[in-house]
Amino acid sequence: MGLELYGKIEDLFLDKEAAHILWSKFISVLISLDVKNILDIGCGSGDFCELALNSGLKVKGIDLSHTQIERAKIKCDCEVKDVCDMEDKFEAAVAIFDVINYMNDKELKKFFSCVENVVEKYFIFDINSYFAMNDLAIGTLKAEDENRFGVLYSDFEDDVLTTEITLFEKDGGCYKKSQANIIQYYHSIEKISKFMKMKLINKIPVSLYGSGEIEKWILVFEK
Ligand SMILES: C[S@@+](CC[C@H](N)C(=O)[O-])C[C@H]1O[C@@H](n2cnc3c(N)ncnc32)[C@H](O)[C@@H]1O
Repeated sequence: MGLELYGKIEDLFLDKEAAHILWSKFISVLISLDVKNILDIGCGSGDFCELALNSGLKVKGIDLSHTQIERAKIKCDCEVKDVCDMEDKFEAAVAIFDVINYMNDKELKKFFSCVENVVEKYFIFDINSYFAMNDLAIGTLKAEDENRFGVLYSDFEDDVLTTEITLFEKDGGCYKKSQANIIQYYHSIEKISKFMKMKLINKIPVSLYGSGEIEKWILVFEK
């Protein structure tokens, strides 16, 4: 439910300028590694998929959210699927914009072993820094358009960021209220590296929101 509701409000809250900086960095990494064929895990509404296609890459997108895939379908080849159910192989996989932080240690270990089964060479993903989760993400955000009013309330405790999503959607003369939580887990690079057989070959610090601090790391793992 959390992922589906997130899918419904993402366009209200996503900072597209910041997202573009991150997506472009992934494209640069993929081009520098001479990768031609990728799996975009957690492709969301398909913007990165589309950018990758336009940059000459062959790309398949998967996500667990039906709401997101409905939006992504017009931009790229994608479907609702768990990476553990993928049969095809890809030169590389990417997981962009918090996908990894949505999973706890147990879920991540299984996820990584499934990714290692589908990639031939590289797995490239971002993780949020402690600063991003403890300082940047907390607090309340509100946004609205003609038909919706959304509120995000985030709190970080014991390495867990809980975001309560509240959405009011126009329904005739009334507003329908939906509520759900999204949980994100802080993971250090050292810990994550131990969960995988693949080797960490590059870590790129990223700052998207002008904080002057490292907000994310892009990590490149090789088989
Ligand atoms: C913040 S969005 C980012 C979407 C996209 N990668 C982008 O850069 O715009 C995170 C996405 O990850 C998806 N997701 C979370 N856990 C996932 C998992 N285990 N497998 C596939 N998708 C997942 C969510 O449904 C959501 O669409």
